Amino acid sequence: MNRLVVGNWKMNMNLRQAETLITRLRQQITAPTASVVLCPSFVSLAKAQEIILSHKTFLQLGAQNINDNDEGAFTGEVAGPMLKGLVKYCIVGHSERRIIYQEDNELIARKVAACIRNKLTPILCVGETTNARQDGLAQRTVLDQLETNLSEITRDEASNLVIAYEPVWAIGSGVNAEPSIVQAMTLTIHQYLFNKYGQAIADKIAILYGGSTNVDNASAYLGLHKVGGLLVGGASLNYKEFSSICQL
Ligand code: 13P
Repeated sequence: MNRLVVGNWKMNMNLRQAETLITRLRQQITAPTASVVLCPSFVSLAKAQEIILSHKTFLQLGAQNINDNDEGAFTGEVAGPMLKGLVKYCIVGHSERRIIYQEDNELIARKVAACIRNKLTPILCVGETTNARQDGLAQRTVLDQLETNLSEITRDEASNLVIAYEPVWAIGSGVNAEPSIVQAMTLTIHQYLFNKYGQAIADKIAILYGGSTNVDNASAYLGLHKVGGLLVGGASLNYKEFSSICQL
């Protein structure tokens, strides 16, 4: 089983709600067909870890963000050494951070490096906007993101990497991408990784799809060549829906 299903809770769920959701998922997901990673807010991570350790569940944790520095005067930020030992994964370069918080490709490259330096697996999100797709620039956008975002890590470090293709227009819109679009972009990403790092490393890098996924459309993506799993937003907040996706 090397499929990966990641739930990005975004800025939802207070501590008590998070506790309830994790407990329900733990009880409901009895026969997972994927490695399951939950990404609650920073506030809930310690509690989530406590639940996971005390019940010895298969659930794993990820953070939603990381600062590119390891410590210092950065009010409100969270650094890699604080996450180390608490989470295995960290989402980096999500389009909400690229667009709303204006994180550029260079900063995201430093965040990828901060993850690697702190032994966290970055889940690097890439994807084009509606305009870029309409202008025929979808592939160019994603390849440019990859080129800069991966510029601060070595070839060996790249084997500890997950890429998530999340077209901006599909996120939270209810308009999930056609599987043919996801197939084409996944193969483009894989080919890029193959050219850059060679087959052995490229084959180790899981490529996920994210954007308005739910229990009804998930199977169509999971069946695609080289698609290694899903990055689920809204549907990961509903324990029945998310549990079903993890057991398809
Ligand atoms: P939705 O599944 O809510 O569209 O969100 C996708 C996403 O942004 C996951 O990171």
